[in-house]
Amino acid sequence: MNKQTLTLCAFLPFAASAAKFSVTSKPFGKVDGKPVALYTLTNESGAKVSITNYGGTVTSIIVPDKDGKMGDVVLGFDTVAEYVEKSPYFGCITGRYANRIAKGKFTLDGKEYSVATNNDPNHLHGGLKGFDKQIWKARVGNMGDNPNLTLTYTSPDGEEGYPGTLNNSVTYTWTQDNALRIRYKSTTDKPTILNLTNHSYFNLAGEGSETNLQHRIKINAEHYNPIDATSIPTGIAPVEGTPFDFRKSTQIGKRIDEENEQLKNGIGYDHNFILKEADDGKMVTAAVVTEPTSGRILTVRTTEPGIQFYTGNFLDDLKGKGGKNYAHRSAFCLESQTFPDSPNQKEFPSPVLRPGETYSQITIYHLGLKKNLKKKKAQTQTERKK
Ligand code: GLA
Repeated sequence: MNKQTLTLCAFLPFAASAAKFSVTSKPFGKVDGKPVALYTLTNESGAKVSITNYGGTVTSIIVPDKDGKMGDVVLGFDTVAEYVEKSPYFGCITGRYANRIAKGKFTLDGKEYSVATNNDPNHLHGGLKGFDKQIWKARVGNMGDNPNLTLTYTSPDGEEGYPGTLNNSVTYTWTQDNALRIRYKSTTDKPTILNLTNHSYFNLAGEGSETNLQHRIKINAEHYNPIDATSIPTGIAPVEGTPFDFRKSTQIGKRIDEENEQLKNGIGYDHNFILKEADDGKMVTAAVVTEPTSGRILTVRTTEPGIQFYTGNFLDDLKGKGGKNYAHRSAFCLESQTFPDSPNQKEFPSPVLRPGETYSQITIYHLGLKKNLKKKKAQTQTERKK
């Protein structure tokens, strides 16, 4: 069976070596008269992730809690029409430039470019019709024991004001141990700028839970980017002595409402954290989030130098999957990225991509459980006793 045929099958049981998995695909409505599909990758344990080729959007991640009960840990909608109408970037691929470019202007090789100021007065997440609103080509495959879905999209020269024809491929792999691995690769035919990310909104207690404030988060950063009142970085500052110090695991809600200029500017947390030891594509652990009642743990690893920690401050009673209410601060995003406004800030890592180079990024969202640790410890102890 070739890969093309695979995508057309309704149900595909694979039996690769010992582990089993399946990939299913079904129609997910139409966008601009064009059909889009929903792909579901299920691993041997029954945990699964669904992704639509509209915006490369992750629509659900269903994983067990500490009692083995399956639950969906990302926000989303039941229909593609709702994604088109009202999505605040739920689960999508954001590009060409995720996050903000001040006043929608940047200069590259002496030429000034203007892009949409869709987040007045700045450019946000690729503009009016960014990668989150494009229909990507999908191809189903497998990486050894793990199912995957590769999405490709060619962005024409000048699209949304950005220079260069950009060929993009994003591969989502769902591993046997419940990790969603996202690999991005892009090439260009003219010098351009680029910053891709995934914009999943997590609530580890299950989507539709009232708040994110009870989660505890540890971020591997000694520095972050303070922002101005329009959310543009004003430099680099130490986290020490501020509510941005997450070097030790701390409840999201502990300091979020403190009297603090930065929290005021972000209406909560909406800042880029500069990852410690990130160096030229080295994979580092960016953040570890734990949720006490479900026992779920999210570990985010990435090859990017920064991560945007956003606490859903703009969510405001949005109706989501199954009619559930998505309240203010009922989810959080951890968006791996280069630093916001980097096209205009020379001391930040460069977002420039030139012909002959390949933009390459890997980010992994691993969904684990506290009880595993306990189990492992118990097992080791029993083994030691033997
Ligand atoms: C990003 C931004 C936020 C907000 C959300 C979408 O994470 O940093 O300010 O725009 O996207 O609502």
